[in-house]
Amino acid sequence: MSYWTHEYLLRTWGGPMIQAEFLRDVMKPFFVPRVFSGFNLFLDKPQLLPDAVDLIARECKSKRAFIVTDEYAVRFAPKVMSPYEKRHGISFDTWAKARPDAPIDTVKDCAEQIKRFKPDLIFALGGGSAMDTAKAAWLLYEHPDVKLEILSPLVPLNLRHKAKLVAIPTTSGTGSEVSGVAVISFPDGVKLPVAGALPEFVPDFALLDPNLTVGMPPELTAGTGADALAHAIDGFMAPKSDEINQAIAQKTIQMIFEWLPRAYADGGDIMPRMKMQQAAMMAGIPLANAGSGISHALGHTIGGLFHIHHGVMVLLFIPYELQAYSKVTDRFLGLCDMLGVRDVDSDPNSLSNLIAKIRDFMASLNLPVSLMDAGVAFEALEKHMDMILEQTPTDPAFYFGWYDLTREQLKDIFLCAYEGKLLDMQSETWR
Ligand SMILES: [Fe+2]
Repeated sequence: MSYWTHEYLLRTWGGPMIQAEFLRDVMKPFFVPRVFSGFNLFLDKPQLLPDAVDLIARECKSKRAFIVTDEYAVRFAPKVMSPYEKRHGISFDTWAKARPDAPIDTVKDCAEQIKRFKPDLIFALGGGSAMDTAKAAWLLYEHPDVKLEILSPLVPLNLRHKAKLVAIPTTSGTGSEVSGVAVISFPDGVKLPVAGALPEFVPDFALLDPNLTVGMPPELTAGTGADALAHAIDGFMAPKSDEINQAIAQKTIQMIFEWLPRAYADGGDIMPRMKMQQAAMMAGIPLANAGSGISHALGHTIGGLFHIHHGVMVLLFIPYELQAYSKVTDRFLGLCDMLGVRDVDSDPNSLSNLIAKIRDFMASLNLPVSLMDAGVAFEALEKHMDMILEQTPTDPAFYFGWYDLTREQLKDIFLCAYEGKLLDMQSETWR
């Protein structure tokens, strides 16, 4: 099967274009949804002043709204629907068959049901996969003839002629509630990001109610929090990241260091839940507007192959991303200052301190720092190495690095990551 990621011009020019200094300031779109965060987002009685329900209901002229969700998060659908039904007479149809990785057949099934119901408001309720399914199905509702697999990210999506999108996350990590990408999967195992020339997939509204994330098991809290931390670091370090994105990313990193251990320790403590929900949303903003990082390209390949949690995998590769980028930028010093680990006499020492700080944090959450700890067998890694080295550079997240890594450099990263050893930046491979 052919995908847009195989397209010659995008593969050969896409990366350099994103990295190019002279293009970075040509146009800086900054897309964010209207965000509501708090405990009272779904009240059945009107409030003294207009609230989120009133503002969102205004977008629903047909009085028909649609919920895209999964078999877990569907339990929250009555709570979401209730104020819109009672206060604004809006009727709902619900599709609750979203599956992990948003398989293309479920996206098409969802789009068919949306087409029959003709809503002008779509609620995406759930984790990243439910939100990605909703985004892709929304696109098929607006433009039924679109072929998602070959849709170039250079083409505008031209959304919002039929419906607007409200995102309600039930996990705190993917940032999909503010991101401009839908990642969907195909029967041959390919996970494909679908995005437009502008981040049009950024939802119109994001509703963050921490009650929807209460009771998440500790491993999932750590894994999704790890994803948010990786997004924030990627978002800070991405070549395209400007002051707006860096400011948000920095504050997000601080919040995650402060609140994730508490959310991990007690899944029922509502304040850490709320802070992590906000941090995950904030981490999604630079991700949407400045881009991802090579941590995601490295993590996608290995995570997909060995079925390891996305957040766990991408954070594991963050130290290698920081090392690789340090060859051409000292931007990591901003993170060192913020986390209080800068050595004013030596940038390499500052980088080592930063990596140690991140790895200590990972260890405190029982997150693996090496592929070996993550359960990858060396023989399996060796056996698949050629495929891993072929596939990683085709991952669109790879375009967001500072430069194109060579095959030898990539191999060195994967072999070092197996043991959790850091790269030798003085070696022939990295000089
Ligand atoms: Fe991620």
